[in-house]
Amino acid sequence: MSQAIISEQSEEQRALVAGEATPEDRQAELSLRPRSLDEYIGQSKITTNLKIFLRAALGRREALDHVLFFGPPGLGKTTLSQIIAQEMDAPLKTVSAPAVERGGDLAAILTNLQEGEVLFIDEIHRLKPQIEEVLYSAMEDYQLDLMIGQGTAARSIKLDLPKFTLVGATTRAGLITAPLRGRFGIVFHLDFYSQKDLEIIVHRSAEILGVEIEATGARELARRARGTPRIANRLLRRVRDFAQVIGDGRITQEVARRALDEMEVDKFGLDEVDRKILTTIIEKFDGGPVGIGTIAASISEERESIEEIIEPYLIQIGFLNRTPRGRTLTRAAYKHMGYAPPKVQQELIAS
Ligand code: ADE
Repeated sequence: MSQAIISEQSEEQRALVAGEATPEDRQAELSLRPRSLDEYIGQSKITTNLKIFLRAALGRREALDHVLFFGPPGLGKTTLSQIIAQEMDAPLKTVSAPAVERGGDLAAILTNLQEGEVLFIDEIHRLKPQIEEVLYSAMEDYQLDLMIGQGTAARSIKLDLPKFTLVGATTRAGLITAPLRGRFGIVFHLDFYSQKDLEIIVHRSAEILGVEIEATGARELARRARGTPRIANRLLRRVRDFAQVIGDGRITQEVARRALDEMEVDKFGLDEVDRKILTTIIEKFDGGPVGIGTIAASISEERESIEEIIEPYLIQIGFLNRTPRGRTLTRAAYKHMGYAPPKVQQELIAS
């Protein structure tokens, strides 16, 4: 019984700093998402280039070339696809790859597109291979190759498709096949946001939500948001609750600190699961190298969620390295967790 309660708590805890959207995030993001590139904060390399590509496509009255976004959850892939449609003044159709079960589903989506429409396929690395193949000629020649009938009666027909823009998003750069990747004319990698950009985002969101926030309060939130706007906005909503109940509604640094400490989001934005991974590697595997499968089994988490969501941030803040022999921890991770790095480990890191 107590086991069940502990794991429920850790689920909740996980959700607080996980990048994937919760139903509450989706609702909140309706009002918080920037609607144009001018409103968009951060990812300046992407927005600068995208502005040019959009203007050029609009000038030629053509559909924008197909766009692929890579990056951990919560960094703005969906938002950018909506902005692309908005800026092209084109309709947007959004699908998640796992929902496209048969080739016929994709054929129906493609044949129903309008000229210039933006088709956003989220988690595109999860398309089944035979469905992915349907996309190849659709992307390259705006043609749909269909097989009709079976056996000796089978024949293939080609259907012309409207000129559309495919926007693909994936959290897993390594899982996109080369033929699919090669068909995207524009490829962007989203990076974690700087603390400065997150502070600006927090101020912007606070204004939309009508909550007063001091600069030091916004800084505290930004510092613990794992470089991720979705998490910053989620923490903002929770800290707003604390401000309302324990203070006068204003988010000061003190309220932000107290709330975040209370919710066990530490100074680097790490939660219980991150800390469990770090302590496990320290205590059970002497700081590594240790395989990802072994880590996943030791802490009863899914390997995929560790690789996609937890690790990228631990790598970004310089706590963890992916090496050919497995994961290793850095001195900074030992220090943050309050352990002295072992001698061998120190040499390993230094070399
Ligand atoms: N809200 C979430 N992400 C944002 C961004 N990149 N710019 C402005 N507001 C945001």
